[in-house]
Amino acid sequence: MESDLAPGALTECTLTSLEYGGHAGVKHHGAMLAVPRGVPGDTVRVRVKKLRKGYGSAEIEEIVSASPDRVEADCPAFRAGCGGCQWLQVAYPTQLAWKQKMFVKAMTKVLGVRPDVRPVAPMREPHAFRNKLSLVADGQGRFGFMKENSKSIVYFDQCPMELPRLQRLYRKLVHRSFPASVEQIHARGTRTASSLVMYAEKPSAALHGLARRLEREIPGLSSIAVRTRNGVRLLAGIPFLTQRVGRLDFFIPPDSFFQTNYFQALTLLEIARRLLELTSSETFVDLYCGVGFFALDGAAQARRVIGIEGNRSSVEAARLSAKLNKITNTEFWPASAADGLAELAPGEVDALLLDPPRRGCDESVLRAVARLRPSRIAYVSCLPETLARDCARLIDMGYLLGEIAPVDMFPHTYHTEAVVKLVAR
Ligand SMILES: C[S@@+](CC[C@H](N)C(=O)[O-])C[C@H]1O[C@@H](n2cnc3c(N)ncnc32)[C@H](O)[C@@H]1O
Repeated sequence: MESDLAPGALTECTLTSLEYGGHAGVKHHGAMLAVPRGVPGDTVRVRVKKLRKGYGSAEIEEIVSASPDRVEADCPAFRAGCGGCQWLQVAYPTQLAWKQKMFVKAMTKVLGVRPDVRPVAPMREPHAFRNKLSLVADGQGRFGFMKENSKSIVYFDQCPMELPRLQRLYRKLVHRSFPASVEQIHARGTRTASSLVMYAEKPSAALHGLARRLEREIPGLSSIAVRTRNGVRLLAGIPFLTQRVGRLDFFIPPDSFFQTNYFQALTLLEIARRLLELTSSETFVDLYCGVGFFALDGAAQARRVIGIEGNRSSVEAARLSAKLNKITNTEFWPASAADGLAELAPGEVDALLLDPPRRGCDESVLRAVARLRPSRIAYVSCLPETLARDCARLIDMGYLLGEIAPVDMFPHTYHTEAVVKLVAR
């Protein structure tokens, strides 16, 4: 049916869903409308913004009657338009229920059957959990957060979702002027320290000077680096932060991946451990292992553990963390996933964990996994679409889908992390 709505129209509707991207959704007058910051069950007066081929977006002008699942967003940044969180106005149990629904929908679409998916493992206290801070330059030497659906920037003194250490760091950074060459700043916090990476065209004397001043002036800021097209270079301080997760201490270099929520990282580790069921006679491969997060944990259960990772500083950190934790049965191979797997023979690997970037695995990697035929696989992913696609390929290659366990790593956003078990037929 053609929609009788037009851009600019003011109309009243009751929202019915939450959707990938974070907006609420409603089918209204023949059009599917995306309504940012809506809550299913809200009756709202909205202004239609865009409309094309039955799909459009609309902005809330007035909440006529609020959904019982609507809560007050307790964040000044969100009220100022920050795009970091999309669901602060949605009650936490409702967020979890919708994450589960959206995850099932994405998997079903690709797999062609509706899989059994466990409830999303929640955070006990979904506040002050983010250990990464990403800021963008406003062109005038100041830094802030990206505004939702726009290229403009919002400034504020507090982000309640960041670790307290990063909130303090942000307050020190937001009022300071940086050289115009710095385009972005990424910071990471641990229990005891923080690190900062400035994104710039090239290292310069001005950046070196700034790094030394920041190190002197900001308590706990112990590592300052610059990222250019040629990689990451330390400008001041130490090359690694350290963070404990569960019973292990991890070295984290400034340019390495690390799970952004330490509380739920432990939940993820426990789920992976339960699904892998490693025994002391087995060889376990942690593919895309980063700084050895799953590999070092698996070392306590397996006989031999091999971590494969393309980023050399992550591999170096993983090796040092093995020493720090007195682990002697791990090897870390600096290699692409496909090249690393090519060094192994069928029958040599009993269990394998995959935790690729958002784009998922290349076909060559999936084929290399199938050639080795580990009896079980744990696939960790933050993007259901690529996870489902790769699971479908592994099913074609002789695996059966086992437990599917989503974890809420990113509260107040539409993102969902999950671990999927696959078992050889
Ligand atoms: C999502 S992270 C997971 C890291 C680790 N499992 C963890 O939990 O900390 C993905 C990792 O894959 C690495 N990576 C990306 N492409 C790769 C490739 N083709 N071969 C090997 N490693 C790769 C990245 O450097 C990154 O460390």
